[in-house]
Amino acid sequence: MFDFDTPAPRAGTGSVKWDLRESSFGNASALPFWVADSDYRSPPEVTDALRDAAARCVFGYSFPTERYKSAVADWIATRHGWQIRPDWIVPSTGIVSELANIVRCFTAPGDKVLIQTPVYDPFAAIVTSSGRTLAENRLVRDEKLRYTMDLTDLRRDLGSGVKMMILCSPHNPVGRVWTEAEVRAVAALCREFGVLLVSDEIHWDILMPGISHFTAGNAGIDENVIVLTAPSKTFNVAGLKCSNDIIPSSALRRRLVAWKETRHMEGPNNFGLIACEAAYTHGAGWCDAQNAYLAGNAALVREHLAALPDLGVAPLEGTYLMWLDASFTGRSSVELCRRLNAAGVILNDGRRYGDDAFLRLNIACPRAQLERGLTILADTLQRSAL
Ligand SMILES: Cc1ncc(COP(=O)(O)O)c(C=O)c1O
Repeated sequence: MFDFDTPAPRAGTGSVKWDLRESSFGNASALPFWVADSDYRSPPEVTDALRDAAARCVFGYSFPTERYKSAVADWIATRHGWQIRPDWIVPSTGIVSELANIVRCFTAPGDKVLIQTPVYDPFAAIVTSSGRTLAENRLVRDEKLRYTMDLTDLRRDLGSGVKMMILCSPHNPVGRVWTEAEVRAVAALCREFGVLLVSDEIHWDILMPGISHFTAGNAGIDENVIVLTAPSKTFNVAGLKCSNDIIPSSALRRRLVAWKETRHMEGPNNFGLIACEAAYTHGAGWCDAQNAYLAGNAALVREHLAALPDLGVAPLEGTYLMWLDASFTGRSSVELCRRLNAAGVILNDGRRYGDDAFLRLNIACPRAQLERGLTILADTLQRSAL
């Protein structure tokens, strides 16, 4: 019913993933499996809504309407079982920039902000570039490459004067979807130590079969939590710069809104709002179909890479980002990526996330493209083993 097999034309459109291949990696024709967006089209209902808006030929000032907020609240209630009030929604223009605002609004220079590594690299960059102190809590992995939190370590780390914790949930790049017990444990520790929990849940809709997501918003710490969400990964609309902070506490909400107002920060643009509303109103079937397609892609990766018995593939529970342990090659991820680029595929090196033995592979693309990339990947890794 939905078509994920036909590649969307992206080269030559100003796409970061496709058009920065030459300048960033020195190979303009390499297949890109790096930046976290998708290479198939957004849901037809989203493009129809954008087309209708363009056909009106008026692009004046706009604001997030009650209908927009209801669409966001309904999506969250039906997909994530969290009943929010529309006034808890603070629309924003992207999660990375909003995280930076939140860190600067709610902490002071020098304060400790905790992240769990390996993790999406802008987290650390935001903390350090804001003049805050990075507190690192390492995730632990078992022999099957499944990552968990060491709650004893986390208790010690949060209890060392940390002011804010940024949770990545589901987790990029290790592919975990934290269980209800894990999220509740984190929430309980944050409450105990008076730590503001900021939960980046941008990937929360992208779930493998049988896996469900438990939002930190449902963990019973309304006074102490900010959940960051967006339609951008789910519906491939990252370039439209529209995200939503969900902030149950009116005190936290007022403080953030005032902080942004005094800096003349504005909300999302009209097209972002239109896409978000359309996606959340009509996109459930497409989202389910995409999840099934991605599960097929993940199976293809495991099948294909089984030819390299020493390569580890972390189990994928959520996100479309796969985490590969290439330590059998004896080479650093940066060196491997250099070889992979030259051979014709672009992956992210694990060093940027905090583990130099790993590579990150984005599987949100037509299956035929993935298959071509996997052949090059497997062959290059095999030849790279020392
Ligand atoms: C965990 C996580 N947060 C945030 C982002 C980026 O969000 P935005 O484009 O809204 O800044 C990404 C993109 O890959 C991500 O994986």
